[in-house]
Amino acid sequence: MRSFAIGPSFAPTLVLWVLLGAAAGCSSPTAPRGGTEPPPGGGGSTPTPDPLRTLADRHSIRFGAAVGRLFPDDARFTAVLGREFSMLTPENDLKFDATEPVRGQLRFTRADAMVDFASSKGMTARGHTLVWQNQLPAWLTSGSWTRDEARGIMENHIAAVVGRYKGRLAAWDVVNEAVDDGGSLRAGFWLNTIGPDYVELAFRAARAADPGAALYYNDYSLEYGGAKTDAVYQLLSDLKGRGVPIDGVGFQAHFEAGKLPSLDRMKSVFARFAALGLKIQITELDVRVPLPATTASLQTQAADYRTVVTACRETPACNAIVTWGVTDADSWVPATFPGSGAALLFDAAYTPKPAYAAVADALK
Ligand code: G3I
Repeated sequence: MRSFAIGPSFAPTLVLWVLLGAAAGCSSPTAPRGGTEPPPGGGGSTPTPDPLRTLADRHSIRFGAAVGRLFPDDARFTAVLGREFSMLTPENDLKFDATEPVRGQLRFTRADAMVDFASSKGMTARGHTLVWQNQLPAWLTSGSWTRDEARGIMENHIAAVVGRYKGRLAAWDVVNEAVDDGGSLRAGFWLNTIGPDYVELAFRAARAADPGAALYYNDYSLEYGGAKTDAVYQLLSDLKGRGVPIDGVGFQAHFEAGKLPSLDRMKSVFARFAALGLKIQITELDVRVPLPATTASLQTQAADYRTVVTACRETPACNAIVTWGVTDADSWVPATFPGSGAALLFDAAYTPKPAYAAVADALK
């Protein structure tokens, strides 16, 4: 039975949540609370297909999406988000530059709205991300800090941000992308100011702030195996071996259509990390295609989504899949990879793409 890796204190909250949910008439914490739109292919005499969150729930898998901006005035966005997904990740609004843009002055308005929306729809939320080299505020990166000063800034930030959502977030990406493509610890602000033990210190601070949240190390290009995967494995094995509180590894899964690892390769990589006692989550899934998308490229994309979802479903330790956005209009891809895009399950008009059907089929 898949389970979220959670600390001891989360379980009673979860039980209360389920009991409250049952009293409110919902059948499961992730039962869709419904949106204003019929699901894709719904209506008419044909039976309404189950939303992705319901199909995933049957495998004890959370199916989520990253949210860049909450559209309170866009009923289509909130309807699709609340209907199809049982988890959300604030795409940018829990990062250091968003939550502490001025030293000691914390901002949570947008993240609060997203976490509140998730609660209102029976969704869980993932925190992303506490310690990363990117999206750091200028006051931090332009300062000159002793190790102890930098450590204090990091630990105070984690205590404040994680503490605010104590008991409300299922998981945190505590450290993001700490290993470079060659397998070395990635040079950057935290390594340069605190030293290699910043990773351990971050996880310990996060556990202290919310013992019930599952704590993840998150990175990209781990799915294939190779030098970077080996280095991350060694890092996490060492941390676990020394009792550092880390519960799982996030595979970002940003892919180019037609260039994924095989199903067996992905499953063997997942199993290797699971053998350390870690949970597996697919944290930022998208599969980009050359633009303009064609029938053929969208079919390749659909097959690739099916592969990833199958790899998670067939890995007992895998308990969540999060796509990095809801519609193609939300995606980070075109700005980063000019000429590529259309990477998500819904197009800009909220029409489900062949990949949506492939994901649904892989979850049946
Ligand atoms: O908030 C400012 C806004 O004030 C300003 O007007 C605007 C134009 O300059 O920029 C806004 O900041 C942008 C930010 O997203 C929030 O929208 C940044 O320029 C932009 O670079 C940033 O991009 C994000 C990127 O991380 C930054 O590295 C993407 O949305 C986000 O999808 C992407 O997500 C990352 C994960 O966190 C980690 N894994 C890789 C993934 C893709 O890069």
